[in-house]
Amino acid sequence: MVKLAEGLMPTVVYWGRDLGPDGEAIAAQIAFTSEPAVMNSSLDSPRRVSVFPGEEEGWSGTPGAAWRNEGLIATAPFEVMEATLIGSSALRIRLRDGCGVELKMNYSIDDHGVLSARATIANVSLDSDRVVEVAALRLLLPLPQRAEEIVDLTGRWTSERRPQRTAVTDGTHLRAVRRGRPGHDSPFLTMVGTKGFTFGEGEIWAAHVAWSGNQEYLVERLPEGVGVLASLFGGSELLLPGEVRLRAGESYESPDVLFTWSDCGIDGISYRLHSYVRDLHSYPSTPRPLVLNTWEAVYFDHDIDRLRALARAAEAVGVERFVLDDGWFKDRRDDTAGLGDWYVDEGLWPDGLNTLSDTVHAAGMQFGLWFEPEMVNLDSDVAREHSDWLLSPLGDNALPWRHQFVLNLSNPEAWSYLLDRIDTLVETLRIDFIKWDHNRDLHQAIDRVSGRPAVRAHTRAVYRLMDVLRARHPALEIESCASGGARIDLGMMSHAQRVWPSDSNDPIDRQDIQRWTGVLLPPEVIGTHIGPATAHTTHRTSSLSFRLITALFGHAGIEWDITGCSEQELEQLKAWASLYKRERPLLHSGRTWRSEVNDGSSLHGVVAPDQSRGLFAWVRTQTSAVAHTERVRVPGLCPLHDYSIRLHDEFDNAALHQVSGPEWMGAAGTDRGAVYSGTFLTDVGIPLPLLNPSQALLFSFSKIAAAPPETIEPAIGSASTSMKESHPA
Ligand code: GLA
Repeated sequence: MVKLAEGLMPTVVYWGRDLGPDGEAIAAQIAFTSEPAVMNSSLDSPRRVSVFPGEEEGWSGTPGAAWRNEGLIATAPFEVMEATLIGSSALRIRLRDGCGVELKMNYSIDDHGVLSARATIANVSLDSDRVVEVAALRLLLPLPQRAEEIVDLTGRWTSERRPQRTAVTDGTHLRAVRRGRPGHDSPFLTMVGTKGFTFGEGEIWAAHVAWSGNQEYLVERLPEGVGVLASLFGGSELLLPGEVRLRAGESYESPDVLFTWSDCGIDGISYRLHSYVRDLHSYPSTPRPLVLNTWEAVYFDHDIDRLRALARAAEAVGVERFVLDDGWFKDRRDDTAGLGDWYVDEGLWPDGLNTLSDTVHAAGMQFGLWFEPEMVNLDSDVAREHSDWLLSPLGDNALPWRHQFVLNLSNPEAWSYLLDRIDTLVETLRIDFIKWDHNRDLHQAIDRVSGRPAVRAHTRAVYRLMDVLRARHPALEIESCASGGARIDLGMMSHAQRVWPSDSNDPIDRQDIQRWTGVLLPPEVIGTHIGPATAHTTHRTSSLSFRLITALFGHAGIEWDITGCSEQELEQLKAWASLYKRERPLLHSGRTWRSEVNDGSSLHGVVAPDQSRGLFAWVRTQTSAVAHTERVRVPGLCPLHDYSIRLHDEFDNAALHQVSGPEWMGAAGTDRGAVYSGTFLTDVGIPLPLLNPSQALLFSFSKIAAAPPETIEPAIGSASTSMKESHPA
């Protein structure tokens, strides 16, 4: 809710639960009570902190914007030129200072309760010599005092999305990303909520910067508060010194910063964000094909016979998309050479790569190919011939990372070269899918021609290149990979159809990585692959059933040399492949629910929008400290429906740490005809087996259509257990 008053900067006075049928009256009361007291040793008027906080309104914290307008006062007061509400879902603001700077802010809220905020700063000076250097343009919203804990993410290669929880304290909780990509330690989503908020409980306000370059998130509290609220939070692109210099007539537009709110825990936040992603124009429109990716199967060993055998094995288990990873292009025998030379290696592929892509297509599978368009090895023709295309300062001192450097895609020649090469290959090989990798941080990302930092220009050029390729090849899909999950954000999701969340296929790591990547993204855009029994990145060994169940909850695939699998393993893979195809309509459209991890075990699953079915994994990653099976609540089912429960038997079931039972469950694959009320399942819960570590079981819950024969009455009263949820006002 925004307070608009003639000539005054708009101020957000409330956001959270929908105010219901009495909304208008309550809104009036909020507006009427929104002025704080005048305090001692403070401003002489009530403190107002607008959507664009700054010193000119007495705000001593991080400002909404910072710029340098040479020779003029940067923080001149703004005149409100326009503040227009468009219906009840959008707000447009236009401000102007006395020194030729204009600022526009656009807010719009979608049907799912996700608010998109974007700002533009323009140099509208009549003096053509005047340059405005922009340092920051932030989108910030106020938070109430009960938003007292912050959860955001961090991580490293093969261990992305580790949550960290801190208290909101006086000062600034700042996450500044200077990697030229969000990074393995991307803050990802800043959630600020009531004390102890969990997946299922608590009130949470969340912010996400939809941008794939440098960025900043902050939560800030000053002792004097924010009007009658407590703190501010939000984010922005992080601009490097000198990166954005506006000449007269030029403007800078921020990326979208998304805000949303839930009163039913993190799952409520995810529900809104998943709906937002599912509405994006770039969201894939076809069922997510089962993938085989060659990386951990063959690495750089691109032997045509070996790859053909792998493709045949993939076809036999039901794979629908075969992706040839790194190693196919000129002189690429390892990671020290070839990056940048996007020509099929004639030594490896004397008869062309069509020999493989045609085999794959003839088998009825899609063909995918790995690229790392933004990178270059110095040992490549491109680097030798076009050193001015490198995104690094002149000289030889730049630091290599995985033996590679960055190509400056904001250089029109470099951009056109890449477009031409990728476009030609997509055309001639009939490529259906690009795995678009990005294997290093951007350091000293200086445009060699202008001498200025160019992370922003480079990032925008990447988006443009993806868009032009997809415009030319509308069925083409792109996956964002960056040494695993170092470039996952909703800016990228406006251009790509899939992300690779981690180079770790170890199912123990994957349980956490997928759980937390899934806070932002729905499962169908998150790549989840089965690797071999012993994971390549951790050398930990785990059972096939655990790996299969873990990889089911995403855009599933295989990354394993399955030509070496036993008959039994292949049978299991086949059963899993058909289960995936059968269940993907549910898994890829439903609502994600997660329990907390308790003593090493957790329950997570997806429930259909009409709550008629749910598919849940009961997972144990660590040895149990307790010696019994307990009741576990099943979230997301409808309290008004009755359900049957089935333990899946498509693959060898998990090793149990118990003699048998629990008794209600019966044998895997059987339906004992028992019926359980939704209230019983969501409120009371069922005892589940005590698993050994690194084990999982898969359960389906299906709504019983007619009057149940043998209803088990809930042990508690009939109070509704539906998760409370209202739209933010
Ligand atoms: C990165 C990716 C991997 C693989 C290799 C190839 O590490 O994350 O999946 O594609 O590059 O070099």
